[in-house]
Amino acid sequence: TAIQRADYSAPAYWIDTVDLCFDLDPAKTRVLNRMFLRRNPEVPAQPLKLDGDELNLARVLVNGQGTSFKIEGTQLVLDNLPDAFELEIFTTCCPAKNTKLMGLYVSNDSFFTQCEAEGFRRITYFLDRPDVMASYSVTLRADKAKYPVLLSNGNLVAHGPLEDGRHFAKWVDPHRKPCYLFALVAGQLVAREQRILSRAGKEHLLQVYVRAGDLDKTEHAMNSLMHAVAWDEARFGLALDLERFMIVATSDFNMGAMENKGLNIFNTKYVLANQATATDTDYSNIESVVGHEYFHNWTGDRVTCRDWFQLSLKEGLTVFRDQEFSQDLAGEASARAVKRIEDVRLLRTAQFPEDAGPMAHPVRPDSYIEINNFYTVTVYEKGAEVVRMMQTLVGRAGFARGLTLYFERHDGHAVTCDDFAQAIADANPGSALATLLPQFKRWYSQAGTPRLHASGTYDAQARTYTLAVSQSCPPTPGQPPKEPFVIPMGVGLLGQDGQELPLQLAGEAAPVPGQRTLVITQATETLTFVGVDAEPVPSILRGFTAPVVLEFDYSDAQLLTLLAHDSDPFNRWEAGQRLALRRAIKSIAATAYPAGATALDDAYIEAMRSVLRHPLLDAAFKELVLTLPSETYIAEQLDVVDPQRIHAVREAMRAQLAHALADDWQWAYETHRDSGAYRPDPVSSGRRALAGMALANLCLVAQGSGPSASSGQASVWPGKAYQRFKDAGNMTDRLNALSALVSSGHALAAQALPRFHALFKDDALVLDKWFALQAGAPDRDGNVLPAVRQLMKHPDFTLRNPNRARSLIFSYCSANPGGFHRADAAGYVFWSERVMELDGFNPQVAARLARALDRWTKLAEPYRSAAREAIVRVAAKPDLSNDVREVVSRALAD
Ligand code: ARG
Ligand code: ZN
Repeated sequence: TAIQRADYSAPAYWIDTVDLCFDLDPAKTRVLNRMFLRRNPEVPAQPLKLDGDELNLARVLVNGQGTSFKIEGTQLVLDNLPDAFELEIFTTCCPAKNTKLMGLYVSNDSFFTQCEAEGFRRITYFLDRPDVMASYSVTLRADKAKYPVLLSNGNLVAHGPLEDGRHFAKWVDPHRKPCYLFALVAGQLVAREQRILSRAGKEHLLQVYVRAGDLDKTEHAMNSLMHAVAWDEARFGLALDLERFMIVATSDFNMGAMENKGLNIFNTKYVLANQATATDTDYSNIESVVGHEYFHNWTGDRVTCRDWFQLSLKEGLTVFRDQEFSQDLAGEASARAVKRIEDVRLLRTAQFPEDAGPMAHPVRPDSYIEINNFYTVTVYEKGAEVVRMMQTLVGRAGFARGLTLYFERHDGHAVTCDDFAQAIADANPGSALATLLPQFKRWYSQAGTPRLHASGTYDAQARTYTLAVSQSCPPTPGQPPKEPFVIPMGVGLLGQDGQELPLQLAGEAAPVPGQRTLVITQATETLTFVGVDAEPVPSILRGFTAPVVLEFDYSDAQLLTLLAHDSDPFNRWEAGQRLALRRAIKSIAATAYPAGATALDDAYIEAMRSVLRHPLLDAAFKELVLTLPSETYIAEQLDVVDPQRIHAVREAMRAQLAHALADDWQWAYETHRDSGAYRPDPVSSGRRALAGMALANLCLVAQGSGPSASSGQASVWPGKAYQRFKDAGNMTDRLNALSALVSSGHALAAQALPRFHALFKDDALVLDKWFALQAGAPDRDGNVLPAVRQLMKHPDFTLRNPNRARSLIFSYCSANPGGFHRADAAGYVFWSERVMELDGFNPQVAARLARALDRWTKLAEPYRSAAREAIVRVAAKPDLSNDVREVVSRALAD
């Protein structure tokens, strides 16, 4: 039964205060919940219906008296209540058997909670909805030796011993909050601590809690937290509103992290790092996730969502904020651009397919069966792009003003996406956002990725250049026709020599130097630039100013000009991607391929050589340009997808680029291999990324038989890679070297892999990398699936730990199309087995895996029928969770 956004009604009761008392015991935790409730006079009188899930109910008292109650489904129903009353509920639950990791659960002998979205009802009966905000006090009681640390939201107001070796701690949260922000932690943990002063001179205590052996891996998380606190105050005037801010890491966690007020709970993956165990990517992910959760303290916790349809109110906004944070910390314009390209690459490889598939939904969905299925790249990443467009339309300062007005209006309340957009617009009267607001808000209500089609005409006589622009949006489930969007479009014109031309639109008095942002609102429009002396090369959608597919029929020559000269780094990168994509698609369509064919022509190869050898470009940017579009991204451009053919073509392109640039790769490796003392900053991590790429290419040359200038000496590279693997001073270099051996298929990989395992057998996060690398290896004659099945039997493998499940199973099913889409259907059979197995104990993780076959209708035969059969098999499982049922039934309806 689907829940509809249109059915929202305010709660019949408010809960003003909650006093919780926990007697923590893994097998039977007792929860005493004493609340003060009051009828909401604005809705008709009705019974109180409290949500509960897998609870044992022992006692219900109203104003201290026993009372009659009913259990209707999962709800506790009380009737004939006074207008205001105290309600006492006593329940027990079993954290040790909580395999869903929602509510209160045990991990490594410690207690943790996860309440968003609807986990609090697994702790006690409650109005489990985000618009019911209450003041909490929490008493935790537990065995002192086993659980020396007892944490909850807010401030510690009392603690001390109890009899029988037990002790207690009492926490009071000074801020009202919805129950999804409740948290508790109990266990043997240690903390890195840092005292900081706010601008106003207030002192705060920051803590990062981990297991005893992990303290030496918390410095980067703490630094990231300090940067986040300072950044939010500097950029948006948002100060830390708590005396104490805690982060706690757990290795059993369904997602990345959770912004519980004052007590963030994190997946260890986004906390623990030192140079020996974490890669540059890990360091940068930690920075952005720590930032993200911290920024929720305002955008999420101080102002929260009225209902779960408004999820992007906090998630889209907070992703936008964490993206801006990382860009600001990156500093230089070129490093900012690298971050932007990475963010767009994620959007286009993950969100665009979602928007085109059976799970497509608007940024603000209209209905859902299981809300956990809507923590999606659409709500998060596309939602962030919608916020970014608002900033583009009102300017950086205007956006900051808008955010200030948003907090003036809504601090302490549960609101909607409309409230947010209204505040940004109202703070900027006369802006394009304010004048176009109702149309702009279609970004919240219409699903699907708009296509922006543009074509250019040069009139030499009139010295004009006209861009004819049209937009459309494909139908999505339940939304056949679409209305035009407001599309901010960054534009510049390049002369034939690559120089940036001043821009003057017809009707304007004088040209303006540099690029500008035009706002497209109609289904079709024309834009005429005047005073143009020769046919220009248009650079459109600079900086990716809107989450659309831009269609422009560029010639190769135009793309080469953009790649060589565009002052906008995003479009410079994009030109290289278009050149590669075009060649990939042509080869995929060619019948004779791959027998002896070469996908890449000299012009492309020479352009890549110029980028690689460029004296001024950053290494990080070069690495992005030289990375071919992913198989997933290529597949999205095709109507009918033969994954094996895409894989073969991309692998052939990779090999060709490796061979043709062999000398350049060698130069790149030698000039970038030493990045100095380890620091995870953008410059040195860019150098490591390019060196790693070069090494992978050199190993590929050694493995292949193709023509190469230096093929004579090429055979030394795998040995060099093995040496680097052994000697590397940091995990980035070590893993890159290992990956070069694995992905080239060299025999030395068989020596390096066990060695890596032996070195890191006690570090769960590093073992995750070891599993992921093997599950994601380029497929050769179907060798990956047997390897994955074998790895499932490895003593270190368990499906119960979400990180481990993701490292092996998801890396294979969702991140290795060449290995997964097998003509014999064995990949799909494996997928269906794992989805059903996971569903038996952790439906949320199972439903994520279920998404791996979202795009099955695009597949060519025999893949298509085999994929359908696998989905049908999952759908037929008795007792399938709502989570997985929603995903597979939408897939089958596609
Ligand atoms: N609010 C958390 C974050 O984005 C994620 C919570 C995910 N919850 C879920 N049920 N999937 O930081
Ligand atoms: Zn979030």
